[in-house]
Amino acid sequence: MTAQFPVARPRRLRRTAAMRRMVAGTRLHPSELVLPVFVKEGIDEPSPVTSMPGVLQHTRDSLLKAANEAAQAGVGGLILFGVPEVKDARGSAADDPEGIVQRAVADLVAEVGDALVVMTDTCLDEFTDHGHCGVLTPDGEVDNDVTLERYAAAAVAQARAGSQVIAPSGMMDGQVAAIRAALDADGFEQIPILAYSVKYASAFYGPFREAAECAPQFGDRNAYQQDGAGPVGEALREVRLDLEEGADAVMVKPALAYLDILRQVRDLVDVPVAAYQVSGEYSMIEAAAANGWIDRDRAIMESLVAIRRAGADMILTYWATEVARKLG
Ligand code: PBG
Repeated sequence: MTAQFPVARPRRLRRTAAMRRMVAGTRLHPSELVLPVFVKEGIDEPSPVTSMPGVLQHTRDSLLKAANEAAQAGVGGLILFGVPEVKDARGSAADDPEGIVQRAVADLVAEVGDALVVMTDTCLDEFTDHGHCGVLTPDGEVDNDVTLERYAAAAVAQARAGSQVIAPSGMMDGQVAAIRAALDADGFEQIPILAYSVKYASAFYGPFREAAECAPQFGDRNAYQQDGAGPVGEALREVRLDLEEGADAVMVKPALAYLDILRQVRDLVDVPVAAYQVSGEYSMIEAAAANGWIDRDRAIMESLVAIRRAGADMILTYWATEVARKLG
């Protein structure tokens, strides 16, 4: 009897590194990576974030060093989060012209504003004493429409300080329209909005809440962020609404647990789509690697390639500078 040989041999195109590189369908480029950075008011030395090995809460000075390193590596942008010294119920520091985000964004734009895009996260959770993303009603719910006024004021303060992209992340209904109107009325019609359109209530934000010191003091964010088990159509609707309200680009967050959603959003829209590889995605790989359980560099690249392949045009990742250097 003659042996049965395979007719098709997909392995032919996998045999050598050169062959694999030639046929690769997914490529990463430094310019599509965005580095999230944290700046803390009133500290003299940068402070390590225990739950995110390698990530720092920066001083205004050390922030500029990190920004220069990112720019030199060819990273596409930075997104700034601030930790104020004083918090209150309405998150007053969010729109204070002297607030830490406003000061730090002005520094950043002066230092690297021509080399990369300097963006600001627009939300209240870092600034409120209760840690929720908005202003509360007397019975402790987040008041959507009152919060919109606070977001609008924060966005304008950020734009006045020089922010080049406003990225609202609070998941209030109508937040993009409110911010767009306020920016336009203040002469910032050229400043784009990158909307966190699809943002799930996720356990993978855990380490971020240490970095940004914004864990809710009671309850959770389930009444405003999306439910992972919720209808897929809800995610697509959030995207459509944000585009109708004037978003210039949209985001899906977290990334790895929501790649199916990312793909559907990519197929739905014709604006750039960002994905946020969030703190928990970072810390899982760092922790497993520190234990010797996983090949750190390969796991990082594999996860980023997956996010890119699922449809992200831009990826927010705490590894942006390191990966950009590696990509050369
Ligand atoms: C809200 C915000 C959060 C993150 C980005 N913007 C936290 C939250 O919604 O609880 C999480 C990012 C991460 O986990 O890396 N301002």
